[in-house]
Amino acid sequence: MAVYSQKFYRLLYEWYEINHRVLPWRETSNPYYIWLSEIILQQTRVAQGMDYYHRFVTAYPRIEMLAAADEDDVLRLWQGLGYYSRARNLHKAAKMIVDRQKTKDKRQKTEVEFPDTFEGLRALPGVGDYTAGAIASFAYNLPYPALDGNVYRVLARLFDCDEAFDTSAGKKHFHRLAEQLLDVNLPRLFNSAIMEFGALHCLPSSPDCAACPLQTFCRAYAAGTVELLPVRKPRPTLRDRYFSYTIYICSRKTKDKRQKTKDKRQKTKVESGNVYTLIHQRREKDIWQHLYEFPLIEHASEAEWQSYQPATSSAAISLTHILSHQRLHARFFLVPVDELPAIAETIAVRWQELDDYALSRLTLKALETIPV
Ligand code: ADE
Ligand code: SF4
Repeated sequence: MAVYSQKFYRLLYEWYEINHRVLPWRETSNPYYIWLSEIILQQTRVAQGMDYYHRFVTAYPRIEMLAAADEDDVLRLWQGLGYYSRARNLHKAAKMIVDRQKTKDKRQKTEVEFPDTFEGLRALPGVGDYTAGAIASFAYNLPYPALDGNVYRVLARLFDCDEAFDTSAGKKHFHRLAEQLLDVNLPRLFNSAIMEFGALHCLPSSPDCAACPLQTFCRAYAAGTVELLPVRKPRPTLRDRYFSYTIYICSRKTKDKRQKTKDKRQKTKVESGNVYTLIHQRREKDIWQHLYEFPLIEHASEAEWQSYQPATSSAAISLTHILSHQRLHARFFLVPVDELPAIAETIAVRWQELDDYALSRLTLKALETIPV
């Protein structure tokens, strides 16, 4: 049966009607709220995103309020979601939209107009093809596809398409498929339904094809290739590297020598509650050039890494971090000290101010697990 038949859409919509989750951003057509939800959900699960969505809508019920907010407050509200550039772009876009309105009507006080075309949305910082399509269709019912990971999977299976979806040629191919399949009369419903179908029914592994309402339309089901789809571009072989980081935990900062002579009599004041640690800025061109991380020892072999243990560490966190060409095996040793040791090229920073430095993703992942 052809995927584009009326019956396909009817079955998809019936499935959606019965199975969809009630989500707050689906109950509104306010483009500002829909945009907020899509930026939050870009790399975040719905369950976690929900709490943040409510926080933002409550703190900034109107885009003017988000635009007028302090960036620090926006980032604080974002805390825990990671990928802070999303929050910075959110704030920047809100300011852009509000400022544009101000220049447009100097005296008249009209409502702030949120961009209402695909191109206008796509031009906002932090908004790519997916997000622009999602807002255009959800808020304005405009006929643009919105391809997220779930939709790629559903399309690959419906069309039994084994082209990699994460190459630029593959993206174009899937985009064309999505444009052809899109229900131009009901873009909001269609995009919501196909996304939700991917999220809840056509799951990455062992989807329930036996109970699938679209089974007769699914070419991958007919061909027995469901579990093989979608296809990603082949991963390059990864180089393994072995890292040991030392996280010094010091409740008193060691002054450097020059300062010590300057304030000989003044005893270095112990600021209670102030925890200091050492970080350094990477200079190597291999990875994370210019980003900050904790003092690092790289080991030549896995065996050397396995047996490494600093004298006074209290606990260790083990993480594996995959980069495009490398697999990093990292341990972070927590080392409580009375005074920070003098290590070349490191700087002492207050724990609370670590956020002020551009830290590597691996370092951020480790920090999330440390209860300091
Ligand atoms: N993920 C991204 N956008 C979403 C939406 N609008 N509903 C559910 N999950 C989503
Ligand atoms: Fe997905 Fe299986 Fe349904 Fe095909 S038959 S759309 S693979 S759940």
